[in-house]
Amino acid sequence: MSPSFLKISNLSVAYEQVYALRDFSCNVEEGRITALVGSNGAGKTTFLRTLSGLLEAKQGVIEFDNADITYLPSHKRVEAGLTMVPEGRLIFPDFTVEQNLKIGAVSKRALGQVEDSLENSYKIFPKLDQRRHQLGGTLSGGEQQMLALARGMMACPRLLMLDEPTLGLAPLISDAIFEMVVHLKQIGITILIVEQDVNRTLQIADNAYVLENGVSIMEGTAREILTDPKVRESYMGI
Ligand SMILES: Nc1ncnc2c1ncn2[C@@H]1O[C@H](COP(=O)(O)OP(=O)(O)O)[C@@H](O)[C@H]1O
Ligand SMILES: [Mg+2]
Repeated sequence: MSPSFLKISNLSVAYEQVYALRDFSCNVEEGRITALVGSNGAGKTTFLRTLSGLLEAKQGVIEFDNADITYLPSHKRVEAGLTMVPEGRLIFPDFTVEQNLKIGAVSKRALGQVEDSLENSYKIFPKLDQRRHQLGGTLSGGEQQMLALARGMMACPRLLMLDEPTLGLAPLISDAIFEMVVHLKQIGITILIVEQDVNRTLQIADNAYVLENGVSIMEGTAREILTDPKVRESYMGI
């Protein structure tokens, strides 16, 4: 078997004594889009925050590149190439697009190549190029999400973790975001996406997990899950 890129084994996470994630195992393959889908409160953000080192695991193991990172501090995970684009985008409204982007170069590795990364981001996101000097707070919701993705790219990620990138966006704008996620995969970025938009997410993902109340109830290829009758009934109203 080829060594796994990111492997999570029997992970449990709790707030005080209340478990938000229980015995969750998952594999993220390099170069693929892996999706974790589930309703509000399922534990998706908890999972990404634990991978980022912002929450501590109660049990379980997180391995990245075959190294155990379960208790590695957050900044070292960033240095290793784990980058999260948080829910809600968290754009600095009074900073320009370019200033927001530069903030994304958080690791030592990324700081050494800010100018190259900026030009690269503008190539990937031409709309942001036109808006370099516009204040973040004056961008539309979709543009802010593009900026959040581009800011994530500024960290030179090896794994880009996206927390509900289409939350609150109109369907057409969501489509553009999903297309961009596919484009990022095509240029070699490994992606872990968590989403409530089960239908659309499964259409762009390679592999997926369905999370319900902190427990994985299904895993497989995105196609298998997309055609599963229970998933279609519970999450797509079909
Ligand atoms: N800071 C917190 N303190 C206590 N409970 C929390 C906290 N954040 C989330 N939870 C609880 O953990 C569960 C999972 O939440 P979350 O990971 O945010 O779900 P999702 O991202 O799938 O909507 C929910 O029941 C939520 O109420
Ligand atoms: Mg969430």
